[in-house]
Amino acid sequence: MSAPTMSERDILGTLDSRTPTRFYWSLTLLATIGGFLFGFDTANIGSVLGFVPFHLNNFWTGYLVAGASLGAAAGALAAGPLTDRFGRKSLLVADAAIYAGGALLSAVAPNAAVLIIARTLIGLAIGADSAIATSYIAEYAPAKRRGSLAMLQQWMITVGILVAYVAAWVIYKVAPDQAGTLDWRLILGLGAVPAIIGFVLRTRMPESPRWLIRQGRYEQAQLALAKLGVDVSTEQVEQAGTELASTEDRPEQRRRWTPGVRRALIVVCVFFTFQQITGINVPLYYGPKLLGPLFQNGDSKVAEVVAGVQVTAIMTLVNVIATYFAFRWIDRAGRRPLAMGGFGGMAAFALVAGAGLTWFTGNARITVVMVGLCLFIASFAVGVGGTGWLIQGEGFPTEIRGQAAAFAATVDWLANFAIIEAFPAMESGLGLAWVLAIFAALAVLAILFVSRFLPETKHHSVEEITRIFERQAARA
Ligand code: BGC
Repeated sequence: MSAPTMSERDILGTLDSRTPTRFYWSLTLLATIGGFLFGFDTANIGSVLGFVPFHLNNFWTGYLVAGASLGAAAGALAAGPLTDRFGRKSLLVADAAIYAGGALLSAVAPNAAVLIIARTLIGLAIGADSAIATSYIAEYAPAKRRGSLAMLQQWMITVGILVAYVAAWVIYKVAPDQAGTLDWRLILGLGAVPAIIGFVLRTRMPESPRWLIRQGRYEQAQLALAKLGVDVSTEQVEQAGTELASTEDRPEQRRRWTPGVRRALIVVCVFFTFQQITGINVPLYYGPKLLGPLFQNGDSKVAEVVAGVQVTAIMTLVNVIATYFAFRWIDRAGRRPLAMGGFGGMAAFALVAGAGLTWFTGNARITVVMVGLCLFIASFAVGVGGTGWLIQGEGFPTEIRGQAAAFAATVDWLANFAIIEAFPAMESGLGLAWVLAIFAALAVLAILFVSRFLPETKHHSVEEITRIFERQAARA
């Protein structure tokens, strides 16, 4: 008896309507190990910079910090065509290997040149991984829980940042005399542990079923679907794929960069630009430097670094906790209300921190600034951070998801780089309070942008989201 026919829509519909099992959650955790390393490797450099014993001029010192972002922009750009050609999983496995290599190399670096090469490698891995992770997740996640599953990426980023600060804090506490010898190597090298685990486990992940069907690899698609709990025969997958191929042969379908896709790309890129230029990474990257002197308790350089690292660790803990609410609410409230609320909170609390710096002194000043910055970070975490990476993963059609998502990630990293580079000059020219006021104004603009241009995508399948953008483009 031949298997009953099933259209691609039926197969993906079954995938979309599943309840995520433990397998889904562990798979997502594995996909987001790169997110953990993204957080860990962007945050650890700040706490070792003062102790790297090699001679580095200003340019190369800056490169050690910001180079990861520039490398990430390049890595993201390269990942796009590669992942559409070779698959999501292959790239995720390769990334874990590069992460591990970069971390080990930084730990044993005999000179500045090797350390710079190692950081560049890590940057490339961060970018490539951030370009693909949420796309991979969006391609198997059930529609009603896609937000939460993709939000794990943001959560892992925040946990990575937190672990980087806590690890530095503990290592400097345990061996303060080894700061310039063993400690900094250990802090940079630790990232190799999750990377190696990720590399081994990622080889066992299923490839994205949506990508496999698009490639005509029906047997592999059938196996991947079975792992995800959707039992269909190879013939059924093949038939669905053939049906799809015949619809895609229509001339109007051959145009991949349709007006809707272009519109989605612009919306995601602008969102990402706002995600960065509203200043989230100023407290996260410059925290130890900006806040260390306020809290210092002792007169050595290590004491100042430890004080700054401790305060920043508190802010990064707030970041982790607040991301939990994003995870809970993203599929209930939806992307739009969370994003508008998040940018609204950022605007308000940037002003609170700025007011603390301007009008208060002593302990009151420290308290108001800390409360303002912590709530600024919390607002970002609830509505802005993960929402950006989620819409990047879900907003594009499967055929070009890799390229479009990667391009958007490149924009995110370039904006990240620009703000990190610009911040020191902005701070010395205008003062921190005014810089915070500028961030607040930009966050208000972001609210207007979201309210006008970001469609609500909660509970829709990724194919429906593509149609939403096409309809919006046709109306514009
Ligand atoms: C952003 C990073 C930021 C992190 C903080 C991410 O969504 O892309 O730039 O450091 O959130 O949690």
